[in-house]
Amino acid sequence: MHDGSGRILVQGLNKSFGPINAVQNLNFSVEPGSVTGFLGPNGSGKTTTLRMILGLISPTAGGAFINGQPFSRLPNPATVVGAVLDSQGFHPGQTARTHLRCYTAALNLPDQQADQVLELVGLSSAATRKTGGFSLGMRQRLALATALIGNPQILILDEPANGLDPEGIAWLRGFLKSFASTGRTALVSSHLLREMEHTVDNVVIVSRGQCVYNGDLDQLRAAQQSRVLVRTADPATLVEALRQSGLTAEYLPDGSLAVPGTDSKTVADLALGAGVAVHGMQEENLDLEQIFFQLTTGQYSGGAPQGPPQPPQGAAQWGPGGPQQPPQPGAPPPGTPPSPGVGQGYQQVYPQQDQNNQGGNGGYGGNA
Ligand SMILES: Nc1ncnc2c1ncn2[C@@H]1O[C@H](COP(=O)(O)OP(=O)(O)O)[C@@H](O)[C@H]1O
Ligand SMILES: [Mg+2]
Repeated sequence: MHDGSGRILVQGLNKSFGPINAVQNLNFSVEPGSVTGFLGPNGSGKTTTLRMILGLISPTAGGAFINGQPFSRLPNPATVVGAVLDSQGFHPGQTARTHLRCYTAALNLPDQQADQVLELVGLSSAATRKTGGFSLGMRQRLALATALIGNPQILILDEPANGLDPEGIAWLRGFLKSFASTGRTALVSSHLLREMEHTVDNVVIVSRGQCVYNGDLDQLRAAQQSRVLVRTADPATLVEALRQSGLTAEYLPDGSLAVPGTDSKTVADLALGAGVAVHGMQEENLDLEQIFFQLTTGQYSGGAPQGPPQPPQGAAQWGPGGPQQPPQPGAPPPGTPPSPGVGQGYQQVYPQQDQNNQGGNGGYGGNA
């Protein structure tokens, strides 16, 4: 028997395909009542992880559990988990309704259930149309309807926003939020944070098969780092003045300085105190997309293979499944991303000892 919790637990999950380590020591849980985004660039191991959660492939090590059980041990799995890994496999000559009725028959469900899920995904008006003429967005909706046929407690969707237009994405957002608001569990993958930004409550971000962030999206958003870019006649003197006030600075390729974690007034006052002329100053804020890019960047940079991203010191919830540490006094809050410019050729000037740590149903309104 399963525990009925609606919880997905991934523990020490690994998968290798020959020399390719597709998934490496993944640990996370997905809680009921929320939408969790499983985010990472193409090839970062999302589909492989979802396939392991669904028992379609075996892990090389570790395990995945749904309601406390491996998928293969769930009784009536269609009533526990609905999943879409691929929205292409429909018989082109079948109508949406007959496609779904194959499932109601196989699962011993009443025929009307097919029309109910078509309505849920806003496809009622296309019930008698052949799927061969469906747009990508309509296929996504029909695949979702198929996953919902057993009225499951947990929904697992692989890249459901692919091919959806903005109206389709907005509809998906409303659908997932209302699904989770009834206490059910949604795990949704995407290679685009922007697509999922307003849909998910929590995120698990993977890069090269490893977890680089696992937590609240609001916390990640709150940690958006700002920095001051300053051009001065005497950068070395300003860097020393900044250092004496506990601030770090990076030399940018154009000779100006980037000072993270402060504001322009502080930098201007320090420059004045040090007698340094300032030629220009600008405050820069990183948005969520830039943080996501920074966390996962380098995966397909076209250059030589690089190591996995380094977690910043003292930050909880970061790094490849590493232990969760309490924040250190004076350390950035949990979820603070690596400093801007890391890995982009900027030179970290101070502090020297840190140099190794850079590290509702809108209905179907067209061929959406
Ligand atoms: N069946 C397979 N055989 C060999 N390599 C695979 C197989 N499935 C996935 N991979 C590799 O594993 C890595 C992760 O792939 P995948 O899980 O599909 O990533 P994502 O879904 O994040 O785009 C990629 O390098 C991919 O080429
Ligand atoms: Mg994939």
